[in-house]
Amino acid sequence: MSCRRCVVLVPAPYQGHITPMLQLGGILQSRGFSIVVAHTEYNAPDPLNHSSFAFLPLPDEVAECDKAFSFTNVVNLLDTININCKLPFKDYLVQLMENVELHSRAHYSVIDLRSENCLPLPECQMEEPVPDFYPFKFRDMPVPLTNEISDKSCAIIWNTLDELEHHHLSIIMKDFHVPIFSIGPFHKMAPMSKTSLIEEDNNCIEWLDKQAPNSVLYVSLGSITSINEKELIETAWGLIGSEQPFLWVIRDNSVNGADFNPQLPDGFEEIIGERGCIVKWAPQKKVLGHSAVGGFWTHCGWNSTLESISEGVPMICRPDFGDQLINAKYVTDIWNVGLEMGSPVDRENVEKILMVGVEAKNMRKKAADMKHKVQNSVKEEGASFQCLNKLTEFISMLSS
Ligand code: UDX
Repeated sequence: MSCRRCVVLVPAPYQGHITPMLQLGGILQSRGFSIVVAHTEYNAPDPLNHSSFAFLPLPDEVAECDKAFSFTNVVNLLDTININCKLPFKDYLVQLMENVELHSRAHYSVIDLRSENCLPLPECQMEEPVPDFYPFKFRDMPVPLTNEISDKSCAIIWNTLDELEHHHLSIIMKDFHVPIFSIGPFHKMAPMSKTSLIEEDNNCIEWLDKQAPNSVLYVSLGSITSINEKELIETAWGLIGSEQPFLWVIRDNSVNGADFNPQLPDGFEEIIGERGCIVKWAPQKKVLGHSAVGGFWTHCGWNSTLESISEGVPMICRPDFGDQLINAKYVTDIWNVGLEMGSPVDRENVEKILMVGVEAKNMRKKAADMKHKVQNSVKEEGASFQCLNKLTEFISMLSS
């Protein structure tokens, strides 16, 4: 057995959580740690894409009917997994510790690694402003959380960068009495790796190669959010009205209750032929980094938000639940790199993002500034890189 310290990562079984956790694995591995990814059988990552990690499948006993996607199902599924996986995971850790004692005397520690964007919240006065957290009200906050995070963790790792959220991070630092490491965006700090649970359709890159710079609107609502048929049709009309080229991700389960091919407006096929491309799953980071992409119509999942900021792409925000609401507010009101999507889908907003005009120009400039901040942060002298040095030291100093 090697004497390298081992970090055990435990992602929640969804794309938006598995991706940053695998990226974090890549980052820590590049700093000399060996990586174990403990995961459920449900939505298991593919070990072949990460041959240098060890994978530990945990029997989750999730019933087939609980796998169908809905918000309630997610909550129930996570409860089931927490109960069913607890014992096998504990057994594994005990075994790991014993092996270490026997073979190498190296000390291993497991940190509760959290990469989600969350805060401790009081459960009252929803319309009141959150103190020291302008412009947010309590109702804007994601699901209420207690101080459980700081009570059970010896440190917290955040997939963000100090320059993006300096003020709020410093408040959080005071509230949680444990070290905080902001070492993001993970995908810019990590070696490139394949993290998608769904096969990426790379044909859209060839299609993008044929489009003019900054002309294409990329539309994707991440891996979980679904819309109803009415919104699907409104989106299609918004894209028709924008008169701009578009790349639209329609996942198999994108439309509520529709296993069938969703019905798009008459004549939409022709529009696609002229200036559209629809895929089931895109290589999103490549797409956002493509010079043809001028705007991102997004649900503001944290990964998508960071990926867009990292490439300087302005956003049209259509948040759905949880942290997406607060992320969208950051995008529109604090960083000023996006607009809220009106309901019904607002053609003017689409135009403002993509077309030439003072507002679009300003937004593009702000988005470019943010991209620059990200680039600086991940450089050797940058804040995220420096913070990673401290994290490496911190983990190395931990004893079991
Ligand atoms: C979930 C929650 O919904 C979100 O609120 C939370 O912040 C993270 O966990 P998800 O909805 O999937 O995530 O959104 P997001 O965080 O944006 O993650 C989606 C990931 O899938 C991104 O890394 C994105 O690059 C990738 N993706 C999405 C693709 O690779 N191709 C696609 O076509 C769409």
